[in-house]
Amino acid sequence: MTNPLSPGSLTGRRALVTGSSRGIGADTVAMFAEAGARVVINYRNKEKRAQQLVEKIEAAGGEAFAVGADLTDADSVTALFDAAQERLGGLDILVMNASGGMESGMAEDYAMRLNRDAQVQLLELALPHLAEGARVVFVTSHQAHFIKTVPTMPEYEPVALSKRAGEDALRAMIPRLEAAGVEFVVVSGDMIEGTITATLLERANPGAISSRKEQAGRLYNVNEFAAEVALAAVEPVPADNTRYVGNISDFTSASATGE
Ligand SMILES: NC(=O)c1ccc[n+]([C@@H]2O[C@H](COP(=O)([O-])OP(=O)(O)OC[C@H]3O[C@@H](n4cnc5c(N)ncnc54)[C@H](OP(=O)(O)O)[C@@H]3O)[C@@H](O)[C@H]2O)c1
Repeated sequence: MTNPLSPGSLTGRRALVTGSSRGIGADTVAMFAEAGARVVINYRNKEKRAQQLVEKIEAAGGEAFAVGADLTDADSVTALFDAAQERLGGLDILVMNASGGMESGMAEDYAMRLNRDAQVQLLELALPHLAEGARVVFVTSHQAHFIKTVPTMPEYEPVALSKRAGEDALRAMIPRLEAAGVEFVVVSGDMIEGTITATLLERANPGAISSRKEQAGRLYNVNEFAAEVALAAVEPVPADNTRYVGNISDFTSASATGE
């Protein structure tokens, strides 16, 4: 794992990453821990994987614990933040990484429930636990961020629309966050090579990822994108509270900017 955060740079800080038992979330939370933060790993189903990550972090001298919570269930999210409060006394970094909507067998409105409603509820429930000077990072894709102006693959469209609706609803909370001394940043990236989402989209549209790669010049891998998410938690908040990762010219050369 290549970690852009310097050792010790997060000593004394407390971080929670949603959906961090695997993928981008897991690499991000591991980077925070390696930089000295005490971290909370959140999983929905993958308890074993979450515990393995806790053990790996502890073996390297870090501090971590895992809490299961389905973000669409308010009681389990309340218990998640209560656990963070009890063990760490609050949070300095919250990364809203967990996402979904392409799972089979879910209700038609599931993407909106998870990617909009549950995200707003999560931030509402997190607010009392966020310390002054805390940073909230919301992770999204260019395909979702720019969905108002740039069409995407049909299989991803419900997810894109729901993630953008979630982003808009969270942005509407910025004045309240600022009043509480909490900073907010959206990190937006292109399709990430090696993820389940990219694999599912490739399966539905053979050639989709390779042609996206050709258009973009290159695609980031999980570790590279996680490094950007980790940096978004510590570097100054960019203009419009938005950190773009990689090339966005394909998205901005359309008639509007997605805002
Ligand atoms: N994949 C891409 O190409 C790509 C590109 C740009 C941006 N992003 C963004 O990066 C973030 C992570 O993407 P990813 O591809 O790493 O995702 P992923 O592999 O699909 O992982 C999603 C994570 O969210 C958790 N999760 C799903 N539903 C949940 C729920 N109801 N409650 C709690 N946790 C839940 C999962 O937990 P369990 O494992 O326990 O089920 C998992 O840890 C997302 O916000 C995504 O939009 C992804």
